[in-house]
Amino acid sequence: MPTTNYPQIDPLIVDLGDRSYSIFIGSQQLAYSDLSVHIKGKQVLIVSNETVAPLYLETVTNLLHDKHVDVVVLPDGEQYKNLDTLNLIFTKLLEQKHDRGTTLIALGGGVIGDMTGFAAATYQRGVAFIQIPTTLLSQVDSSVGGKTGVNHVLGKNMLGAFYQPKAVIIDTQTLDSLPQRQFSAGMAEVIKYGLISDYAFLQWLEQNNDSLLNRNPEALRYAIERSCINKAKIVSADETEQGVRAILNLGHTFGHAIETFQQYQGSLHGEAVAIGTVIAAHMSHFAGWLSKSDLHRIQSIFRSFLLPVTPPVEMTSTDFLALMGRDKKVMDGRLRLVLLKGLGQAFVSSEFSQEDLELALNNACGEL
Ligand code: NAD
Ligand code: GLY
Repeated sequence: MPTTNYPQIDPLIVDLGDRSYSIFIGSQQLAYSDLSVHIKGKQVLIVSNETVAPLYLETVTNLLHDKHVDVVVLPDGEQYKNLDTLNLIFTKLLEQKHDRGTTLIALGGGVIGDMTGFAAATYQRGVAFIQIPTTLLSQVDSSVGGKTGVNHVLGKNMLGAFYQPKAVIIDTQTLDSLPQRQFSAGMAEVIKYGLISDYAFLQWLEQNNDSLLNRNPEALRYAIERSCINKAKIVSADETEQGVRAILNLGHTFGHAIETFQQYQGSLHGEAVAIGTVIAAHMSHFAGWLSKSDLHRIQSIFRSFLLPVTPPVEMTSTDFLALMGRDKKVMDGRLRLVLLKGLGQAFVSSEFSQEDLELALNNACGEL
């Protein structure tokens, strides 16, 4: 593989002072990782789910022969990312008498990562945790940056904490077992980095569509590394989303409305983000910031990675507006949205016109 096509990237650090941590990326990370090095005490609780545990739990447990390892296997699905399921983690920790020196390991996709991180943030006021993400989406986004939490029936990710892991270990080979639909959902967050701030990466994604869909290991590794670099840079600059970090939520306000509307059992998170991003792009176009050709390019790239670009047919613009009113980016009653000034140029605004928002939603919901 020519290195000009897939440039090598140095090991990654999320730079947060004394809470800085490394992201290890490679195709054999689980086979060769020195996982124990990142764990101070003897006690470990691995949190996984009923799909991922049969695939990778034994491999991870074998890396921890010098530790006392307990395991909790949760039901699989976004609809279980809630306080009831979180309580299963706390119950296991208490039953097995885990103390403040324990370390939680999240083994799974973003749902497991977000819940394990939140459990770690709150168990005995905070214990260590490590992310071992096994979906594309969790490898490029959710495992990095310390956003943890669960959903509420009234709103996505409404209960949570910023709480950073001690390390992120990404074994790209785990993606071999990932279903195609989940792979594409992860690509939505990869494309996001290109759209918000990395136009050269967006072009690279357009040019390497086939390699990525065929899961060429080098192309995949490069896409994951470049996504993590983008994320680490933004998180290091603004850990708790006081400013620039909000651009990572491109398409998410619309996407979260879709997920909440469907009670977390319809569109995948990445699919909802793809649809939401296309709505945000339409709105940016109606406001005069984004050209028609760039709008079409955005629709094309999502389609080329087999992602949906229109909301579920049963959703109306009124549904969107009602659900978006509860977004975490609402401040003093005013909704803030991530919009585009061009490809690779996202910004956050509360100064948009309500007319453009409604036009974009009417257009998306086929109400024009
Ligand atoms: P997920 O965790 O539900 O995983 C998707 C599916 O793939 C599940 O059925 C899972 O069991 C299965 N799976 C996982 N790894 C597998 C593997 N290697 N082989 C086969 N199957 C595998 O979904 P996701 O897309 O990973 O994550 C979505 C979640 O992440 C959402 O809850 C979203 O809100 C959250 N998220 C959080 C952040 C953050 O910054 N914390 C960022 C983006 C998304
Ligand atoms: N996924 C959005 C963030 O981490 O800020």
